[in-house]
Order: sequence, then structure tokens, then C-alpha cells
Amino acid sequence: MKQPSRAVHAGRDLKARSPLAPDLSPAAVHVYTDLDDYDAVAKGERPGHYYGRNSNSNREMLEKAVAELEGAEAGLATASGMAALHTAMLALAPRPVTIVATRELYGGTLALLRQDFEPAGYEINFVDVNDLEAVRRAVPAAGLVLAETITNPLCAVPDLEAIAAMARERGVPFLVDNTFASPILCRPLDLGATMVMHSVTKFIGGHSDLVAGVVAGDAKTIGAARSRSVRTGTTLSPFDAWLALRGLRTLDVRMRRHSDNSLALAGAMQKMAGVVRVHHPLLESSPSYAVAKRLLPEGAGGMMAFDLAGGRDAVQRMMSRFQLVTFAASLGGVETTISYPEITSHRSLTPQERADLGVTPGTVRVSVGIEDAADIVADFAHALAS
Ligand SMILES: Cc1ncc(COP(=O)(O)O)c(C=O)c1O
Repeated sequence: MKQPSRAVHAGRDLKARSPLAPDLSPAAVHVYTDLDDYDAVAKGERPGHYYGRNSNSNREMLEKAVAELEGAEAGLATASGMAALHTAMLALAPRPVTIVATRELYGGTLALLRQDFEPAGYEINFVDVNDLEAVRRAVPAAGLVLAETITNPLCAVPDLEAIAAMARERGVPFLVDNTFASPILCRPLDLGATMVMHSVTKFIGGHSDLVAGVVAGDAKTIGAARSRSVRTGTTLSPFDAWLALRGLRTLDVRMRRHSDNSLALAGAMQKMAGVVRVHHPLLESSPSYAVAKRLLPEGAGGMMAFDLAGGRDAVQRMMSRFQLVTFAASLGGVETTISYPEITSHRSLTPQERADLGVTPGTVRVSVGIEDAADIVADFAHALAS
């Protein structure tokens, strides 16, 4: 099966009289009439569910679907993308090690590394994603390598294939946050990564109406991640799993429209008033252009960013003139939204740290939706016109 068909069918096993759309099962607990039967289900020897924190049919369907799309043996759905990241990191590196992480990361990930992992004894070595020699020097001392397929917010594309080869050569696990690309546009496990995670809140869910995460990888590591997630209670609610699976069914068509629209907007934006720089991996001016062409041949998804002259005041002026676009501190929904990393995704960084990453007071991140491309371009052109 190809990815578009997998997106529609993955994770379910239809039989005669099965509901075509899955039933929602909010039950916290299932009843049993036989102690041996309960024991066998609890041990995982027989299929079934017994307690909602351990497993649930809606969560299981989502896990299977994402695992299939990512080409993984198994998946684990969690209460948020951050829970997925935390659980995946601890499954791959349960004891303090040096984590080599790309310097450009989602601000929440940076906060997790600094405020939770560093105090627990992990060391973090941040490297520039575009400097493969720096990665090569850092990997031998690492116990885990962490990267995003497309970085947040400036949309650089690390050479995941090269990084995976370096990590593999040294036996170091490599975890990829594939939130921005989704498994439709990139399958990091095929490129050699050990594990992949998503904020399902974004493109997989796709409708800005749920918070969820998922991890996919080999059955043994996912088993360890699942046990920890059950112990710490980070499992996903049935309703959010049900909604996420409903979103996932249209992921392929949405990602293709997001990709076309973001490239159209990025191209048009280069000529708009006040725009100093446009960040999109498939613009020829992007430092990631060659890598993106190779790793994201079918499109780079809906994320892009731009730097506006005039900083925060200019951003506010643009916002107040939008007729279609809205400000929202998330991404990946069907509607076009902007975010202002200085006070949203990257607020936990100091101004100097943001400047070092290239995030300026004029940097705006755009999650380009699936509306008509001309309408999106026109709204930005109108909002930025002098
Ligand atoms: C790339 C990336 N990873 C992880 C997360 C965290 O996901 P969640 O908000 O679902 O916990 C986000 C959220 O913005 C993100 O953009």
C-alpha cells in the first residue's frame, strides 16, 4: 500500500458488521468473568483491554496507524507531544548521558532538556544542524542524538540521512521529531533514525481540536516506553485518540495542499513590503535547499517563517490588518495562522539565545493552511502593504 492509502486505512481491521468509522470507547475499565482470562490479558498474552491507563481501543488504533505510516514495528500514543518526546528520550537513554541536539529546536524541547534532563545529570551538546562536521565530532561522546525533520521556527532541514549514518556507526540512538513533515512527507526510520515522535496536536490531528503525541519505533523500545508511560500516567484520552485518527485519515491530501500553499506564499512574500528574509526549505535561497530537495521530494509541508523590518510593532500592525489569517500559538491546522516565536514557542530563551538562533524581534512563523493559495497571499499582501 502507498502512503495515501495507508493514511485512509491504517490501524483498523474491518470484518463483517464492523462499524466503518470506529466506535468511541471512553470506558475507564472493562469487566471480566474469569480470573485466568484477566491474567492473560494483563500479561499481554491475549488481546483485550482492562484498565484505561494501560490500553484502550481508540488509542491502540491510532498507535497502529502511525506506526504503519512511519514504517515502524510499534507505536505509543501519549497525552501530548511533550509527553511523547519525554517518554521516547527516556526509553532510548534511561540513564544520564550526553545528548547531542540540533541547536534549533522547539522552545518547549529546549526547556525540557534544560529544566528536566540537565538537572537529572544529562549533558546537552547543542550543534548547528547545517554543520555535519560538528555533528561528526560530537556523536562519539553521545548517548542520544536528537533532531527535528524541519526545525522550529526557521525551517532548516538537517541531513537526517547523514546524521543517522554517523549515529549508527557509533551505536548511538537517533530520535527525530517529525512533527512538521509528518510521515506523508518524510519517514525518518527509512533514513536510518532509531525512533520518531510527533506532536499529534499539529498536522496529524490537523484541526486544532486536540492535544496528543505519538512515538514509533522497534517493538522492544516502544514496549519500554509504554511501560513508563503507563507508570507515569501520560497515556492519551480515548476521545483525543478518536479525533486524531479521524484527522489522520485526510493527512495525505492536507499535507500536499499545505506544501503547495506554503511554497506559493514563500515565493510571493519575497517581494512583499517590509519583508527582510523568508525562511522556507524549498526556496533556492534557503541554506537547506539541497538537503530539502533530497529528503522532502514531495513537499516541505505548511511551515515557513519570515523576518519583518520594524520588529514587534510591525508584526502587530500586520496582525491588526489580517482578514483571513489569525494569530495562534500552535500550528498544523487547516487554517492559516501566524505565531510570534519571541513570546510563544521560544519565550523560554534569552534574547541573546534567540538572536544566536536567528530568531529576531521581527520573526514571524506561519503555519500555512489549506485555504485557496491566492486568498492567503492576498491577505498577507494587504496586511503588509504600506
Ligand atoms: C516540533 C514540535 N515538537 C513538539 C511539540 C510539543 O507538542 P505538544 O504541544 O503536543 O505537547 C511542539 C509544539 O508546538 C512542536 O512544535
